[in-house]
Amino acid sequence: MDFKRYLITAALPYANGPVHIGHLAGCYLPADIYVRFLRSQKKDVQFICGSDEHGVPITIRAMKEGITPQDVVDKYNTIIKNSFEEMGISFNIYSRTSSKIHTETAQAFFLNLYNKGIFEERESEQYYDESKEMFLADRYILGTCPVCGNNNAYGDQCEKCGSSLSPEQLIDPRSALSSASLVKKKTKHWYFPLDKYENWLKEWIVEGKKDHWKSNVYGQCKSWLDNGLYPRAMTRDSTWGVPVPLPDAVGKVLYVWFDAPIGYISATKELTNLWSDYWCNEDTKLVHFIGKDNIVFHCIIFPAMLKAHGGFVLPESVPANEFLNLEGEKISTSRNWAVWVNDFLKDFPDQQDTLRYVLCANAPETKDNDFTWKDFQDRVNSELVAIFGNFVNRTFVLMHKLCKGRVPKMHNDIVDVSDNGLADDIVATKLKVEQNIENYKFRDALYEIIDLARKGNKYLQDKAPWLLAKTPELQLENQQKIDNCLHVCLQLTANLAILINPFLPFTAKKMCFMMKVVERMLEWENAGRLDLLKVSYPLRAPELLFKKIEDIEIEQQINKLKETQKTIKMSETTDKMDNTETVRQEIKLEVHAPKQEITYEDFAKLDLRVATIIGAEKVKNADKLLKIELDLKTEIRTVVSGIALHFKPEDIIGKQVTIVANLAPRKLKGIESKGMILMAENEDGRLIFVSPLEKADAGSEVK
Ligand code: MF3
Ligand code: ZN
Repeated sequence: MDFKRYLITAALPYANGPVHIGHLAGCYLPADIYVRFLRSQKKDVQFICGSDEHGVPITIRAMKEGITPQDVVDKYNTIIKNSFEEMGISFNIYSRTSSKIHTETAQAFFLNLYNKGIFEERESEQYYDESKEMFLADRYILGTCPVCGNNNAYGDQCEKCGSSLSPEQLIDPRSALSSASLVKKKTKHWYFPLDKYENWLKEWIVEGKKDHWKSNVYGQCKSWLDNGLYPRAMTRDSTWGVPVPLPDAVGKVLYVWFDAPIGYISATKELTNLWSDYWCNEDTKLVHFIGKDNIVFHCIIFPAMLKAHGGFVLPESVPANEFLNLEGEKISTSRNWAVWVNDFLKDFPDQQDTLRYVLCANAPETKDNDFTWKDFQDRVNSELVAIFGNFVNRTFVLMHKLCKGRVPKMHNDIVDVSDNGLADDIVATKLKVEQNIENYKFRDALYEIIDLARKGNKYLQDKAPWLLAKTPELQLENQQKIDNCLHVCLQLTANLAILINPFLPFTAKKMCFMMKVVERMLEWENAGRLDLLKVSYPLRAPELLFKKIEDIEIEQQINKLKETQKTIKMSETTDKMDNTETVRQEIKLEVHAPKQEITYEDFAKLDLRVATIIGAEKVKNADKLLKIELDLKTEIRTVVSGIALHFKPEDIIGKQVTIVANLAPRKLKGIESKGMILMAENEDGRLIFVSPLEKADAGSEVK
């Protein structure tokens, strides 16, 4: 089917951190390549994106940084927007879901469904954290996975075995935000009856899309459908989000996965008055570029919402990529394990295209892939520099040296098979690139282009015009051969610029400058032509298209990551130290295995003292830690102890305890802890102070 218009969206990134290479490789770069390809074919296309500024990730980030959610989204929206711009991701609009037009659009969408009576209103008991005074999103409830026993499973998913869960299924659910125990509280929400759309979705996806959706996408949808669909709450108790537009919905907002995809529509509205031409027409091709963790929302929930509303076009395809890892480990914003785009551009200025190249050549299109700095260097040096850049550079240098800096004439009487062969290769490559891009196989498409440049190099090597120039006695005849060779190479260069343009737009632009052609030459229909550069037209001196990446640059990046790794390890040990759970397990092991014998001298090294607790308080941002003031008679000591889950501060004041007084001090959450309080542990895990049976003097020695 021929489409009149194209509406291309890329997942709205959460404005809770900068963009990293995983984001780019996952959806923004492929979407941009696709859009640039369409534009070069003069298609009517809108490329839509913006920041996803609602939802729990934002509020959590705000809590962590001690700022408001609005501050968080303002900060990261700017950073993200700039990174995309610098990388040449060519959105027609980059909007935000905190905009007025979005609030209005999302609320109107909700009301449309509400007025049709589509939602089911339900009261239910939901987990509530009393210390934080909030209902907890599924992600912030932890507990034991009923399937595999992992005791850190989330309320929506177990990361160990991959089961998708609901908080009700967790064994011993607890809050991830505080040590408070969870209570259940009644609350009312509006549910979207996904189950009622199951048959329609089956028809639409299983009958309609199975032949052309990527197999990873189709597979996930199929398994959702096979497992049966259930009503899903489309509202949440929160103060951050789009308010539910109903009088009896105070303190409630739209579920972020309800409002965010509507963001595609509101951004289009903000962009153009003609928005409905794109959204409400069957001859629009709507394509959502996303990462694999977004599949269910874009293939099942949002289409069902659109269907329920009516009047909107449905996605024709949802090309989702898998994940990109970094040096063998999962990229993580919270652990700072990432290559941030803004950092990359600081360290490699003006090298947007090298990053675009590597991320596309190594894109996680069919499986998770790994980004390593070594591979980055190899690909840049041995593919971009040695093949593509080298071909263009040699062609220009030789043309200046052997053809007076002008496009030489083609002498048709001496055209040979290799000249024709290369001309055929250009046309064949164009077709293969087209087919691959249309099927969202961007790596393969890029590979074809590099392969064409490789053929160009071979052609040049075989013809060796520099040798022909060395035999003056055959000058006339040889000059004709030289002319033909460089004519072909120059036309190939022009073709390479057209083909590479969607992938490496900065490079294509540079090539146009060198060839002194206007950028309109880059229109796709020009690919395959062998008359793009006019005979005897003077061309500029070559510019190096790509810079070789030196070992030292790679070492610096690797060292940077090693530093990060150290900080990650350190913070993970601190986490462990305030994780009584782990400490307890360690103690248990020790109980079972008697320790090695020691001498009296060893024992005498310990300075054990009786101390009286005179103050205790919770440590901020550390649920398990108490800051305890101890009277040792000669001094007042501060000790940080991982016992907050076991004792209330006010209950332990006045108690006498035994401490190791000469333990080297260490810092926990910024507080210096001098000494350690001794504890006994019961089989049920209860902790008990080791105290003198009768009141002892504070500070007295334990021997
Ligand atoms: N913010 C989501 C994520 O990063 C993606 C939202 S896509 C949209 O996973 F369709 F909801 F906008
Ligand atoms: Zn599990």
